[in-house]
Amino acid sequence: MSSENKFFSHGTLEKNVGWLIIATIIVVSIAGLVQIVPLFFQHTTTEPSPGVEPYSALRLAGRDIYQREGCVGCHSQQIRTLRSEVERYGPYSLAGESVFDHPFLWGSKRTGPDLARVGARYSDDWHRIHLRNPRDVVPESNMPGYPWLQKNAADTSSIQSHMIAMTRLGVPYTEEMIANAPKELEGKTEEDALIAYLQGLGISRRYIMVDEVVAK
Ligand code: HEC
Repeated sequence: MSSENKFFSHGTLEKNVGWLIIATIIVVSIAGLVQIVPLFFQHTTTEPSPGVEPYSALRLAGRDIYQREGCVGCHSQQIRTLRSEVERYGPYSLAGESVFDHPFLWGSKRTGPDLARVGARYSDDWHRIHLRNPRDVVPESNMPGYPWLQKNAADTSSIQSHMIAMTRLGVPYTEEMIANAPKELEGKTEEDALIAYLQGLGISRRYIMVDEVVAK
């Protein structure tokens, strides 16, 4: 074709797989950076949403158990902005709800339901029965039971160093909170800690939405 540029022609790109791969990588990289880089500077992604506070010592310990037991392998914690998700799970997740999550536990697989707003949905007793043997409350459940959690004492020895590590990542724990942490865990089991963690999931925004509805 005579009208084509001597140095660059789309035809060459389309017929030469090597150049096509290189050009694709360049285009995708630029497009990716345009989407990702601004997120580091937007306040909505770096500052906590209203009502979101650092995890209490007990909830932080529970979060560790959630990671250790691999709950994230079956449960996501991110409600997407789709009508079907919002109707089933509640208000969609905001980046500012995860600012104290190190590491984040958004997950990518839903063998079980999303847990981003499971907090306050069931009673503590429901969770106790469910965690020990899910089939006692949901007969068709294929979730494994975690009966040992009720027998293990929550780990008071590592909680302070864990909280100090969190402060290095920007979580504003005060010295007082760190000093009181082992006391908060005393006499608690791993099951107590895990339930405390679950019961706080996503409740800040859920209440905000309720307020908004009430205000109308
Ligand atoms: C093998 C996959 C699997 C694993 C691992 C798993 N779950 Fe589940 N979970 C499910 C399934 C399936 C359901 C739905 C049936 C039910 O309620 O038991 C469920 C339901 C739940 C519910 C109720 C959610 C709701 O909205 O009704 C909670 C809470 C929960 N799981 C917590 C946990 C915790 C905490 C762990 C880790 C200790 C865990 N799960 C590990 C599969 C899993």
